[in-house]
Amino acid sequence: MPSVVLIGGQWGDEGKGKVTDFLAEKADIVVRYQGGNNAGHTVVVGEEEFKLHLIPSGILYPDTICVIGNGVVIDPAVLIAELDYLAEKGISTDNLLISERAHIIMPYHKKLDEVTEISRGTGKIGTTKRGIGPVYMDKAGRIGIRFIDLLDKDVFSSLVKNNLEEKNKLLDQVYNSECFNANAIIEEYTTYADRLRKYAADTSILIYNMLRAGKNVLFEGAQGTLLDLDHGTYPFVTSSHPIAGAACTGAGVGPTEINKVLGIIKAYTTRVGEGPFPTELQNEAGQHLARKGHEVGTTTGRPRRCGWFDAVISRYTARINGLTNMAVTKLDVLTGLETLKICIGYKRGNEVISDFPASLKVLAECEPVYEEMPGWTEDITKITAFDELPKGAQNYLNRLNQLTGVPISIIGVGSRRSQTLIIDNLF
Ligand code: IMP
Repeated sequence: MPSVVLIGGQWGDEGKGKVTDFLAEKADIVVRYQGGNNAGHTVVVGEEEFKLHLIPSGILYPDTICVIGNGVVIDPAVLIAELDYLAEKGISTDNLLISERAHIIMPYHKKLDEVTEISRGTGKIGTTKRGIGPVYMDKAGRIGIRFIDLLDKDVFSSLVKNNLEEKNKLLDQVYNSECFNANAIIEEYTTYADRLRKYAADTSILIYNMLRAGKNVLFEGAQGTLLDLDHGTYPFVTSSHPIAGAACTGAGVGPTEINKVLGIIKAYTTRVGEGPFPTELQNEAGQHLARKGHEVGTTTGRPRRCGWFDAVISRYTARINGLTNMAVTKLDVLTGLETLKICIGYKRGNEVISDFPASLKVLAECEPVYEEMPGWTEDITKITAFDELPKGAQNYLNRLNQLTGVPISIIGVGSRRSQTLIIDNLF
């Protein structure tokens, strides 16, 4: 089966980077299809750590082609910094291609992200302030600037000038903020265009041809299902579609091309930013998860909120994404907790809620209904097969499988590439 979509099954930060990196070894091409440098993942190879935001982690394999698809939004300065960072580490980026249709993050997008967050006050979303919301607003508003436009100085200059007429008024008159100079932006971005031109391609054609040739194609989602603009905890979501269906629009492939959907689901739950989180823990168990799981954002350095595994969420994720397989990550983080809790449903007053609600007011009033299981104390970080796991860990995984209804194909027991148990190889 040559094509797999990999998605985050919770609120992002499920450890997708490591699984992508693992699968990329067998993939001929890895394609990012949404989001921007609001994402961030850390991949540990041997003793070396790689932090990536935009470039798929497949780049660490010399023969894997990496694509930044049309659904991604690109901050060119960040992309260039990432290219330089990889070059310093001796990693070639010759196999990188960028969709000509991807939209470009402009300085005014970042400024607008910042000032709109400030003006929301206590109702803030807690964005990464990377300009994600504003750039997707311009895309939907049909005034965005695409990579192909950046590469043509005349087209680019005219788009910047037109856009700034409105943006500067907005910044000055509504947000009382500094304005931007068109010529300064054009000069700065022309240097980015010169540097990035060689990566431009019609990537949809390339992916199509690779699929026709029976090559292994991996579509890499960023963020997670509950941050999806339609299906997440709106408005506390990102402005793109991290769900599997978006691989089609964000990469330019038809739905009939997708063979498998792999959901990456952490053995517990975390969330960065604002919004309700039913299984959130504010006790010693929560501190254990944050400490042992190093739960700090790769992009913003913000501490992540931590809580128990929530099967209402994993069932929802399985349905919305059409999961065929799941990877349970960071199982080792649970080692040492005497009793583990799994949320199997919600209660709101006398009402039992088994499906993830659309209303945030309802979600905020939901009390988790827990099932308890004994934990384990043995170190599992060197284990290489499911049968070698302590009974407690096996039971825990079997229960997640039962509650979610999706077979577990991959289990993460540590941050290194080698600390991965494979039940089904997918490619
Ligand atoms: P934005 O994507 O910067 O607009 O942020 C919107 C929401 O998505 C905020 O709650 C962010 O914390 C969250 N978010 C965005 N990207 C990620 C990610 O890669 N991991 C986890 N949360 C994210």
